[in-house]
Amino acid sequence: MLRQPKVGAAQTSPTLPTPAQGVRFTTPIVETPGIVVLASWIWRLTRFLVALPFRFPVMVSGLSVSVAAWWWLGWPGLAGLWAAASLVSLVWWRAWPDSHRRWVTLRVLAWWRHVTVYRRHWQPVLVIAGLAESYQERRYLPRIRRVTCDTWADRVRVSLVAGTAPADFEHKVSELAHGFAAPSCRVTVNGPRDITLEFPRRDTLAEPLDAFPMTHHVNLDALPVGRCEDGSPWVLKLHGTHVLVVGVTGSGKGSVIWSAVRAMLPAVANGTAQVWAIDPKRMELSYGRDLFAHYADDGESAVALLERAVADMQDRAERYAGKLRSHVPTTDDPFVIVVLDEVAFLTAYHPDRDVRRRAENAIATLTSQGRSVGFAVLAALQDPRKEVMNLRNLFPDKVALRLDEASQVDMVLGEGARDRGANAHLIDPTLPGVGYVRLEGSPAPVRVRAAYVSDEDITAMAGGYESGVVSGGEG
Ligand SMILES: Nc1ncnc2c1ncn2[C@@H]1O[C@H](COP(=O)(O)OP(=O)(O)OP(=O)(O)O)[C@@H](O)[C@H]1O
Ligand SMILES: [Mg+2]
Repeated sequence: MLRQPKVGAAQTSPTLPTPAQGVRFTTPIVETPGIVVLASWIWRLTRFLVALPFRFPVMVSGLSVSVAAWWWLGWPGLAGLWAAASLVSLVWWRAWPDSHRRWVTLRVLAWWRHVTVYRRHWQPVLVIAGLAESYQERRYLPRIRRVTCDTWADRVRVSLVAGTAPADFEHKVSELAHGFAAPSCRVTVNGPRDITLEFPRRDTLAEPLDAFPMTHHVNLDALPVGRCEDGSPWVLKLHGTHVLVVGVTGSGKGSVIWSAVRAMLPAVANGTAQVWAIDPKRMELSYGRDLFAHYADDGESAVALLERAVADMQDRAERYAGKLRSHVPTTDDPFVIVVLDEVAFLTAYHPDRDVRRRAENAIATLTSQGRSVGFAVLAALQDPRKEVMNLRNLFPDKVALRLDEASQVDMVLGEGARDRGANAHLIDPTLPGVGYVRLEGSPAPVRVRAAYVSDEDITAMAGGYESGVVSGGEG
């Protein structure tokens, strides 16, 4: 049996002189000086104590106030303090039961999820996802700073280890979501080495949204068209940009188009905005054709409409040249939105080559020059591949509804969108109107759902517009 030499024991070598010959070789042992070990422990304890109030602010402040009351006022003081705190809690509970219940429930839930889900599975999930080195080296494990819960999601605030970047986590959102049994995961960057991972606990977009009530105020930079996953409104900018909505058949492209038209209807009614519509399928937009300044439904008339838009745009640009740098919608110079359903019909599928070429030229001209003079294009498309639509990069804003293939996500939302969690190819077919968008100022895609404008809503919109009930609005 092989015997392991004892560490630190004297070892002899057969080829070298033996101890009998008077020479001994010993393995050098370098011991950390006791003072350094002590200093390291004191440093860790101090760091822990300093961080404690930030990690558990309510608990630490409650404890400190209790100790102070006991110290200065004795046991009666402590009992008085607790009685006052209980009274405040009781009044809060009686007066605002929902808020009290929510506060307590969410805190208890956060503690529970922290202990039973995130702390418990943190190391294995991160190691297997390749975000931490090994089971031994806890020093190189990103640290959970805090877990908070709201009604629909858990948020795990994480301190990164030096040498890693938020992008490492963004590229592993699927692994993290599966690892913590969540439907998705989103990464937000708070600062250097400080990120938050958002794990939804339920799908807030599972229920369809009714069409929004119409208001008199129209903001063409932020038209409410649906809701984001966190409950905030999803607003679409149309003035000063162009929007491409991509999704397979039945994914709900119509609801994005109609929600946008509905939101700007008061501006249409007062003449500061116009909708020019092209509807090759004669199914999507024909229902509300009374709302449109111009309407076309076949190749020839569609191209004529597009070329007229280009001519008007160029005429306006000529008038503005040297005088105005940006467009303000007025009744003389209204904001014009060209709505194009199934744009590939004109750019790829139309049998007449000349129609395809003219349509492509007109769309390219509108999208490259229309922004600053108040002309915008809102187009819907089923297949985002280049062979079908090579103009997609001329649309600064894009919406990815349900897509056929994973590779199409980055084609629509730009490089890295799928890695950052935009799983548009995995959207449930029973959830039309659900999609992903990139909001201004954030590279992380956001899950959204468009409000559903039914045929009855469209009829009511057209009726209200005709009879002058819909009015007001500013461009
Ligand atoms: N936002 C939504 N919420 C709930 N249901 C919706 C929503 N949008 C669409 N639907 C439902 O899905 C069906 C298909 O939607 P829609 O016609 O808008 O799809 P599409 O993407 O335009 O398809 P196509 O490319 O074939 O025109 C609608 O008839 C409606 O029943
Ligand atoms: Mg459609």
